[in-house]
Amino acid sequence: MAFPQSFMDELTARSDIVDVVGSYVQLTRRGSNLFGLCPFHSEKTGSFSVSPDKQIYYCFGCKRGGGVINFIMEEENLPFPDAVRFLAKRAGLEVPEEEGDREAGRRRQRLLDLNRDAARFYYRLLQQPEGRAVREYLNRRQIRKATAVNFGMGASPDAWDVLLNEMTAKGYSKAELLSAGLIVDNRKGGFYDKFRNRLMLPVIDTRGDVVAFGSRVLDKSEPKYMNSSETPVYSKRRVLYGLNLAKKSKRQGILLCEGNLDIVTLHQAGFDNAVASMGTALTPEQIRLLSRFTKELILCYDNDNAGKIATERALQLLNGSEFSVKVLQLPRRRTEDGELVKQDADDFIKNQGPAAFERLLNGSENGVEFRMAQIAGKYDLSSDEQRVAYSEEISGLLASLPNEVEREIYAARAAETARITPEAMKIEVDRVRKQRVRRENRVELRKNLNPASQLQPKERSLRYENLRSARAEEGVLRLLLLDDGLFPAEPPLMEADFSSPLLGRVFTLLWKARVEGRTAVLPSLAAELTAEEMNHITALCQRPESVRNGKHALSDYIRVIQEEAAKRAGGEPDPLLAAAEKYKDKKGENRNVK
Ligand code: UTP
Ligand code: MN
Repeated sequence: MAFPQSFMDELTARSDIVDVVGSYVQLTRRGSNLFGLCPFHSEKTGSFSVSPDKQIYYCFGCKRGGGVINFIMEEENLPFPDAVRFLAKRAGLEVPEEEGDREAGRRRQRLLDLNRDAARFYYRLLQQPEGRAVREYLNRRQIRKATAVNFGMGASPDAWDVLLNEMTAKGYSKAELLSAGLIVDNRKGGFYDKFRNRLMLPVIDTRGDVVAFGSRVLDKSEPKYMNSSETPVYSKRRVLYGLNLAKKSKRQGILLCEGNLDIVTLHQAGFDNAVASMGTALTPEQIRLLSRFTKELILCYDNDNAGKIATERALQLLNGSEFSVKVLQLPRRRTEDGELVKQDADDFIKNQGPAAFERLLNGSENGVEFRMAQIAGKYDLSSDEQRVAYSEEISGLLASLPNEVEREIYAARAAETARITPEAMKIEVDRVRKQRVRRENRVELRKNLNPASQLQPKERSLRYENLRSARAEEGVLRLLLLDDGLFPAEPPLMEADFSSPLLGRVFTLLWKARVEGRTAVLPSLAAELTAEEMNHITALCQRPESVRNGKHALSDYIRVIQEEAAKRAGGEPDPLLAAAEKYKDKKGENRNVK
């Protein structure tokens, strides 16, 4: 993972964080920092900050942070070397490639090529005699040829090794086929095709790469759907089926459905803004991906228990976000025997036609209305007792709405349902809201009163073993980043003096940068740290540190670190000393060691 240091320095120097972040996030200046809406989590008020001085970003909400390379890694969903290449292209710099990196990039590209070749193979097979069963299946599902072509659908052969042979003949190795999830190890030294006798649905990302496959059996056997496992080029949390097409739609918003074939039917009926999350609940990563293309979502999950739970989960995830969210409820259908059954989007379009779906779309409720109706459905509102219970539950929901106007409007509507006065409902909602704010404040206060818990990194694996030392170690790093002129020429500490391996490692890296006379050092650590480590280091840079008192603070920090290191070196601390230490810690703590 080694690009030459001089290149990395030039790259970070030429990629100003304000410019780069500014092309994704609208930023406004507040003091010495700039603020905007965090692109990594859903929010309505900006807790995302960019520091031009330190060349770092940090979100006080989701606690993600780092330098310009980390930003691109997160936002463009790229591994480190690709983020570097992305920024280099942007800055007009040529990338001096190392053999190892070129190799990793090539391996990824090989997997994408392999997927593409496999998709082409399945696609061709669909038109050939071997594809007949799948063609008949598409006919039964009323999927037209043009639609199948548009989605790049294919057929996998009814045999054990046709793909394996075709792809090895093209020069791909078994290891590559395994890594792409296209073949399976039979544990007897042999391999066989994973997808056999199925309708093949290539999963294409928004860049147009085939990253995976979904597939469906042609009869009632199990498993009905079989999808690629996670691979180096596919993470199901980060992909939505159909988004490669939906992102080009002229329709307003994006329709989120459950099933792959629902998407196909919807696109065929003209609703080409539909996407599916392929059997997983909507993830924050998918929401972030969607936010690049739209700020309006319509949830269209099945009208059964699982679908309702999925809808509720998605609404909670999107509550307070910049998205406007609607819920389209598919009505149940009465069968000939008078039974009420659920229909998915595919069934509905087939039974009622696209015009009826358009009407549902226009009449779809917003998220609040949907949740209110769900709650109302649980109570028999002709009973006084149940009206009281309804009012209680509904005020819980209303109190959670961040917007005051919304609270007022829906409280009035809920009051009507409960047949009480709007004023009475409003009082109840306000009461619940105040109670909640109080509870949150209490939690916050408790957290603030317990500095130990606050100081610990979010990530469990980074937990500090020695808090006293770790605080001082953090202070040293902050000062080093703030003003390395405070430090003597020789390193005042060794990496081994640090109780936290991470902080020690960062110290060594920063010190090396200082010796080499490099600037903007924190952003260039992106190559050396994981995302979690970077988040933590950026977070600790946010804590106040005064340079004015720097010299004094620095010597205090160093003393604490050395004391603690000596204790470690001497084995178990002397019990008397430890007690004295404890007393001192309780009494005043070291004023500079915040
Ligand atoms: P459904 O079973 O609701 O499928 O699963 P569907 O789309 O209505 O299927 P058809 O109409 O019978 O073809 C919804 C989605 O959940 C995922 C698939 O992505 C599917 O489209 N799923 C379902 C799986 O991944 N595996 C399964 O075994 C079933
Ligand atoms: Mn279906």
